[in-house]
Amino acid sequence: MTSSEIRAKFLNFFKEKDHKIVPSAPMVIKDDPTLLFTNAGMNQFKAFFLGNSVAKAARVSDTQKCLRVSGKHNDLEEVGKDTYHHTMFEMLGNWSFGDYFKKEAIQWAWELLTEELKIDKESLYVSVFEGSNDADALDMDAEAFDLWKQIVPEDRIIMGNKKDNFWEMGDQGPCGPCSEIHVDIRSAAEKAKVSGASLVNQDHPLVVEIWNLVFMQYNRKANGQLEPLPAKHVDTGMGFERLCMVLQGVKSNYDTDIFTPLIREIEVISNAAYGKKEETDIAIRVIADHIRAVSFSIADGQLPSNTGAGYVIRRILRRAIRYGFTFLDTKKPFMFRLVKVLGDTMGDAFPELREQQQLIENVIKEEEHSFLNTLEQGLVLLDTIITANKGKEIDGRKAFELYDTYGFPIDLTALILEEKGFTLDEKGFQSALQEQKNRSRSASEVSKEDWVQLTDDAEQEFVGYDVLEANVKLVKYRKVVSKKEGEQFQLVFNLTPFYPEGGGQVGDKGYLEMSNGDVVYIVDTKRENDEIVHFAKRLPEHLEERFKVVVDGKQRQRTAANHTATHLLHQALREVLGTHVEQKGSAVHSKYLRFDFSHFSKLTAAELKAVENFVNARIEGQLPLEENRNVPKETAIKEGAMSLFGEKYGDSVRTVRFGQSIELCGGTHVQNTADVWHFKIRSEGAVAAGIRRIEAITSDAVKTFYAEANQALFEIKDLLNNPQDPLKAVTSLQDENARLKKELEALLKDKAKNLKGTLLDELEVVDGVRFLAKKVDLDAGGIKDLAFAMGQDQDNMFLLFGTEQGGKALLSCYISKQLVASKGLNAGTIVRELGKLIQGGGGGQPFFATAGGKDPGGIAAALERAKTYVQP
Ligand code: ALA
Repeated sequence: MTSSEIRAKFLNFFKEKDHKIVPSAPMVIKDDPTLLFTNAGMNQFKAFFLGNSVAKAARVSDTQKCLRVSGKHNDLEEVGKDTYHHTMFEMLGNWSFGDYFKKEAIQWAWELLTEELKIDKESLYVSVFEGSNDADALDMDAEAFDLWKQIVPEDRIIMGNKKDNFWEMGDQGPCGPCSEIHVDIRSAAEKAKVSGASLVNQDHPLVVEIWNLVFMQYNRKANGQLEPLPAKHVDTGMGFERLCMVLQGVKSNYDTDIFTPLIREIEVISNAAYGKKEETDIAIRVIADHIRAVSFSIADGQLPSNTGAGYVIRRILRRAIRYGFTFLDTKKPFMFRLVKVLGDTMGDAFPELREQQQLIENVIKEEEHSFLNTLEQGLVLLDTIITANKGKEIDGRKAFELYDTYGFPIDLTALILEEKGFTLDEKGFQSALQEQKNRSRSASEVSKEDWVQLTDDAEQEFVGYDVLEANVKLVKYRKVVSKKEGEQFQLVFNLTPFYPEGGGQVGDKGYLEMSNGDVVYIVDTKRENDEIVHFAKRLPEHLEERFKVVVDGKQRQRTAANHTATHLLHQALREVLGTHVEQKGSAVHSKYLRFDFSHFSKLTAAELKAVENFVNARIEGQLPLEENRNVPKETAIKEGAMSLFGEKYGDSVRTVRFGQSIELCGGTHVQNTADVWHFKIRSEGAVAAGIRRIEAITSDAVKTFYAEANQALFEIKDLLNNPQDPLKAVTSLQDENARLKKELEALLKDKAKNLKGTLLDELEVVDGVRFLAKKVDLDAGGIKDLAFAMGQDQDNMFLLFGTEQGGKALLSCYISKQLVASKGLNAGTIVRELGKLIQGGGGGQPFFATAGGKDPGGIAAALERAKTYVQP
């Protein structure tokens, strides 16, 4: 069976058991402060488990793009070294939200594996949670044990500890006991020697977990305590790549059809062979794995960067580049060439890979270029460090510098040092790293108390499309403290008109009013696990009363104008530049908007004008907002609504239409494009390879912009004595200035000519040298011309000129070439010495040199001293 057939078989099995097949959520997470990346299939359903929102379908199934590179679930260090861990992988899953529980989950998993997929029953083991004696004091999962006993012999049921058999998403959140299914794919001879049961959970590459059935029963709170969930759920996750390994009869995930095309391509590019040498094999596996993580992230809209999720992606990419550089001798960008192969292999299931191939390639290639550059610079620096080092051990802090400034991986540093017969003080490196982590952690650290629940309204209503004020009840609140914002309270109401930050649009601000007239300001609004959370500086006094909450209407109106303009801009760019333009990010604020999009070259002035005109024509066209809050996603897409990669959409979506512009969008908009007033582009530039950014303003900001421009013009006119036509006045000033400059130059030349005659007459002979030291009134260029002109007429000459200009002093020394030779005089040395008298310095050539200084008062002394150089 091909991997595509296996994926389809899984989904079909659960479809027949009344599960709704849903698409994978994006791998990059945008609205959960506890997670950067999807690390399990259940992430997108977290709110259903916690009871914050109600699932429309009680049974669902999917394949989910996951990334496990940070936090509680981190497999990065294993990747490549073994054959069955990955950074990015697909997790096949089936879920029950308060519907079926352990019995069906266990039965169906067994049925699928052994009857549908025909995996030999004898090769399977299952595990059951044994309970815990710690603070949680959890009982053994007897229910699961009894259910398994009806299916498999008892010696195939293994009791597991909390680490293996109690699954938690993170430090907080839904959790529960789990049953894992492990498969033993060793040869019969090996099986006869050592029992499979003894190898379960022992990191054996051929006795691996393939499926985890989690029985969600608890919520782990911020204070560490477990509280029972309102309902019981099933959350399962099967490693797709491992399942393919088993079903395709191979011994490594990398030998399945998911990876072999990538490995072949790496072999072709690098001229290395897979399966000959462990070191090379690890590098090839790392690269084949990492290209998936990086490509999927970029397709989801997460570009490599220096912070947060972007930094994780950058590190993964650099890790792969380094493996290639060191072990496959790839000294030029090469990873980008794997993107097409990846698209060919996985593009049917994940079309985003094909649709964005060119962008992904460009971004990766540029990253490769820049890291290969720093790799080389880093190597030079490392050489310098080694040369300057006393002893054989290199200071870990120096290695940290290399890591920090050049993005130089520590393992590469250690490797090169070893080759050169040095060692690395890893402790010093680790402690420098730790210090840096502590610094950044303490700056961004947020401590959150547990929610205090006041009422149990489960579903919260957003009424902010229609009204800006509402009477609300406080459902729950908690205190959060961060270094940046200090102490704040997060408030959740039963309904709210406040728009939570999302889809690029900032969160609403406003206030809450109590019945006694007291006011608490709301400084921001965000979405967290499907709930709208309001940030307040303090807690209202009477928590149980109904409050009036009011959104800052002015800010909302300006933000809405910018959001509408963003849609029109998107449309304009696709119209003017072509339909390859895809939105890659946006920031809609009240004062400006920012729009990132894929396009491969700088926009010309004409293109920018055309874009601006297009948007303004739609504003002038007074197009009304046509909003539909509840359209089936398929219908919306069919109608041509623009959707974005990496965004999470439900089955029914909201569409926002202004004329021909239709987008899937949850943001707030003006009622009519006329309310945008005017659209003005302020800047256009590159953000990354193939990604451009436009910043623009609308409405009040445009008014301010033109008012300021007008004020500046007014002041300029005033300076010009209010001419009829200021443009003409400035041009004629410029012409006049150019003419005067020319005249002045001619005059100065004349003056120098006359001066030359006078000065030649003034030369005195000192010890056979024609000598003159004199203060003149010329600029530096004039003096040089003068000295060389005198040199044409006279030889054996020593000149020192001093001049004062703009409060500064300049000395210029000219010495005829034959004097330089015969008397060993050097103008450069002389001006350096004399320069001290004018509090400055200088230099030049032996026959002509200049010195500048701060003190014109010293010129006389310098001229005086000059003669000493020629006197006997
Ligand atoms: N959420 C479970 C896991 O990730 C299925 O293993």
